[in-house]
Amino acid sequence: MIDQIALNIPIRLRRNRKMDSIRKMVQETRLSPCDFVAPIFVIDGEKKRVAIESMPGVERLSIDLAVKEAKELHAQGIQSVALFPVIDPSLKTPEAPEAWNEDGLLARAIREMKFALPELCVMADVALDPFTSHGHDGLANEKGEILNDETIECLIQMSLMQARAGIDFVAPSDMMDGRVAAIREALDDEGFHNVGILAYSAKYASALYSPFRDALKVRLGFGDKKTYQMDPANSREALLEAALDEEEGADILMVKPATLYLDIIAKLREQSKRPIAAYHVSGEYAMVMAAHNAGYINAEKVFYESLLSIKRAGADMIFSYAIKQVLPLIC
Ligand code: PBG
Repeated sequence: MIDQIALNIPIRLRRNRKMDSIRKMVQETRLSPCDFVAPIFVIDGEKKRVAIESMPGVERLSIDLAVKEAKELHAQGIQSVALFPVIDPSLKTPEAPEAWNEDGLLARAIREMKFALPELCVMADVALDPFTSHGHDGLANEKGEILNDETIECLIQMSLMQARAGIDFVAPSDMMDGRVAAIREALDDEGFHNVGILAYSAKYASALYSPFRDALKVRLGFGDKKTYQMDPANSREALLEAALDEEEGADILMVKPATLYLDIIAKLREQSKRPIAAYHVSGEYAMVMAAHNAGYINAEKVFYESLLSIKRAGADMIFSYAIKQVLPLIC
């Protein structure tokens, strides 16, 4: 038996941690289903679901099943999906015209999603990597340099295609300079004033995207993405990128990846009055699932803690593959 003693400790913070009901009341940050954007990988065909080896629990879905999945998520309070098309390798070329094909997989997926769920906010990336044979986000010259201004012309076509298909937010994820202003102008010229731009503003050249590239079957033909995606060493540059995107007309600013870049989210929260999105990326998902499947950690709890931390840092919305695991833990 331990003898009871009472020291004179005037402030005891543990009182507010005494029981679950108190902890829930004093909780400063709360996750809600409304915080999440669900990425969905879309494939051609019908009633098809194909597992992604490096992302256990995530599947590529044909459009009919993607719509079904979105319906289920929407019924649980999820307000938005981001569609990522898995393009047949035979349709990939250096110039990537499939990216703005009005009858292509992406266009069809957007149309069918909006037709089935007009109230759901549908987003899609604007970048060439699912469509180029070399896997880069832009056009390349013979020296392997990624061409900024020529790529922007393609991004404009891709944005207009998405807008015509009914997209709510185009999400340029390519990191070309000046693309947000160019896309805004092109959308406005065609009367798409109500199509928003969610800019991947601080998108780092991260090693955490490999499961995503595996999901989309994107293989980089040459080089890396460091001439357009940001150096993980830099934070002032992230603020500059975000400020430029904001000036150019971005409605929402994104930081990506999320958990290794919480300082960037927090700094951007101080700088901008715009909503901030964070992308809890494929590698962040895959690492946790691998450790979970080895029996080392509990994926649901680690995901909950990760997503809560991303929100605490200042994100208003989070793209994540872990939504289903986390929803039951949200209070
Ligand atoms: C395409 C794009 C990527 C991701 C989102 N959009 C990959 C990349 O830039 O190489 C990564 C998302 C993830 O890893 O979950 N530009």
